[in-house]
Amino acid sequence: MAEIDVSCEGRVQIIRFNRAGKKNAITRAMYQTMADAVVAADSSDEIGATVFFGQPEVFTSGNDLMDFMAIAQGGEHGGEVISFLRAIIGGTKPLLAGVDGLAVGVGTTMLMHCDLVYASPRAWMQTPFVDLGLVPEAGSSLVAPRIMGHQKAFALLALGEKFSASQAEAAGLVNAVVDEADLEAHVLDAARNLSEKPPEALSIARRLARGNRDEIIGRMEEEGALFAQRLQSDEARNAFMAFMTKKAS
Ligand code: COA
Repeated sequence: MAEIDVSCEGRVQIIRFNRAGKKNAITRAMYQTMADAVVAADSSDEIGATVFFGQPEVFTSGNDLMDFMAIAQGGEHGGEVISFLRAIIGGTKPLLAGVDGLAVGVGTTMLMHCDLVYASPRAWMQTPFVDLGLVPEAGSSLVAPRIMGHQKAFALLALGEKFSASQAEAAGLVNAVVDEADLEAHVLDAARNLSEKPPEALSIARRLARGNRDEIIGRMEEEGALFAQRLQSDEARNAFMAFMTKKAS
């Protein structure tokens, strides 16, 4: 199976992280596959909603740190992550996620662009951007405070606090905590329910509820430029080296 598995169940598209050996760390190719799937769903009459799933106990550990390290050493940035973020921020159809286990970095911030998020009791979310010498991404510096207020957003985005499933629910990032055995069926039920609604009305409702997407994309781009600069910083290089050294020891 590919590292991103894309399938359909009726009118629901399922995008599944499938790189469990690396905790579903997301490579450039994986971002592009997801971006293409979300964009294709938007223009397909056959698909009413898209769902993101991971593997048992692993939603995703976020961006592949080896890719970050390659950029820190002067490699090409690539536009794949931006394509993915544009697709989920600018998309017209509902996005859902079922989070079981760890959701780190973009694994957390992408949830802010989903419309319904369910998590198992053993799910947790964390964005260690500042600890990595980086800055918040994916429009999260704008959207997270809207969802949970400044203080909780700052604890998540700057302090790097780990949110349990119940904390994430209390913060408004998660709709409900659902036992892991029932999680995917629960998310698929919600997605099926949405995908059977009148699509135009649903799309308008999503657009209105999401607010000004140009503003979010603008912030995402502003963050992206700063993030790219930070990747070249000594703070970031040292953090990536520390991760790799830990791996090697
Ligand atoms: N990028 C690249 N590889 C990653 C990764 C990432 N984001 N997350 C995990 N991996 C790899 C590890 O290097 C390891 O590979 P190996 O078996 O070849 O050595 C494998 O996945 C398992 O990870 P490991 O760290 O042993 O698992 P763990 O259960 O002890 O810890 C995490 C899981 C997610 C807490 C830890 O891997 C981690 O902190 N990853 C980095 C998360 C991160 O900072 N993401 C970017 C945010 S901007």
